[in-house]
Amino acid sequence: MPDQSGRVALITGANSGLGLETARALLARGATVLLACRSRARAEAARKALWTSGASVDAIELDLASLASVAAAATRITQDYGRVDLLINNAGVMAPPRTLSSDGYELQFAVNHLGHHLLTCRLLPLMQAQPDPRIVMVTSGAQYFGRLAFEDLQGERRYDRWQAYGQSKLANVMLALELQERLAAGGSAVRAMAAHPGLARTSLQPNSIALSGSRLEPLLYRLMDPLFQSAAMGALPQLFAATAPEAIGGGHYGPSQLGGLKGWPVPVPVAAAARDPQLRQRLWQVSADLCAAAGQPLEPALS
Ligand SMILES: NC(=O)c1ccc[n+]([C@@H]2O[C@H](COP(=O)([O-])OP(=O)(O)OC[C@H]3O[C@@H](n4cnc5c(N)ncnc54)[C@H](OP(=O)(O)O)[C@@H]3O)[C@@H](O)[C@H]2O)c1
Repeated sequence: MPDQSGRVALITGANSGLGLETARALLARGATVLLACRSRARAEAARKALWTSGASVDAIELDLASLASVAAAATRITQDYGRVDLLINNAGVMAPPRTLSSDGYELQFAVNHLGHHLLTCRLLPLMQAQPDPRIVMVTSGAQYFGRLAFEDLQGERRYDRWQAYGQSKLANVMLALELQERLAAGGSAVRAMAAHPGLARTSLQPNSIALSGSRLEPLLYRLMDPLFQSAAMGALPQLFAATAPEAIGGGHYGPSQLGGLKGWPVPVPVAAAARDPQLRQRLWQVSADLCAAAGQPLEPALS
């Protein structure tokens, strides 16, 4: 990784798993790292765990399940730091029973996609002025089975917790590509990319099992255990997108081996649906409408 001294990296969900490892790696290369977490206590514990002499690491409260919290965090970051070079939209929840965000939206769509969409738009003005600014959306192999159910985006009529996860992770990669297109069309230097970790040992699976109460899934995870890589390896694709000189706007990076489950980061294809510009534009418009309905319009609009 090139030297990151002088650069400010904001990582959502940085108190655990891939976010924590991403923070550790960026700090080791000299970046100032802002840990954006929903729990002040967990953020503070991560900050202490990461701190070494000379490291520049701060914790910021950000609950992606509340668009008002996202907007407030963006305002605080703008006022207190005035600079973001790298935005790593990493936080996520996986396959809980149907739950609603503070704004009344399905939790996975709200946390994994909508909150990140609003955060990104609100931080863009800060990023435009920096050299080599990058936005990384952390997606998943679940994008490949994801489908945007525009007729029932919030799972009101039928909720399948895995379909809803796939939908949110497809939305992540679609947002990266759509953002890149809109930024490039407007002559912006900001680059948007996506990355997925393959299978990595983090709190994601245990939390998902605890919430769902599934008896089958713990067994399946035990069988799949040899396929899992460490959180540090899983963080490499997002670190590659965020810092490698050869990573390109609109790029998508994931592990190289076992059909993308583990290994070193390489460019990988996105889900076919993400390549459809009409679907991407529709997702953007629906997301803008949902944010506006919650009193937090996507600004700047980037039409
Ligand atoms: N691990 C894998 O195999 C895998 C595979 C594919 C994709 N991914 C993706 O990788 C990303 C990171 O996940 P991980 O594996 O590192 O899992 P993790 O260890 O569970 O970390 C998830 C992070 O997201 C945070 N988060 C959850 N809800 C939030 C909210 N409402 N507001 C702000 N932060 C919130 C969590 O905070 P708390 O600690 O407070 O809950 C935690 O910091 C996710 O986007 C996930 O979809 C992971």
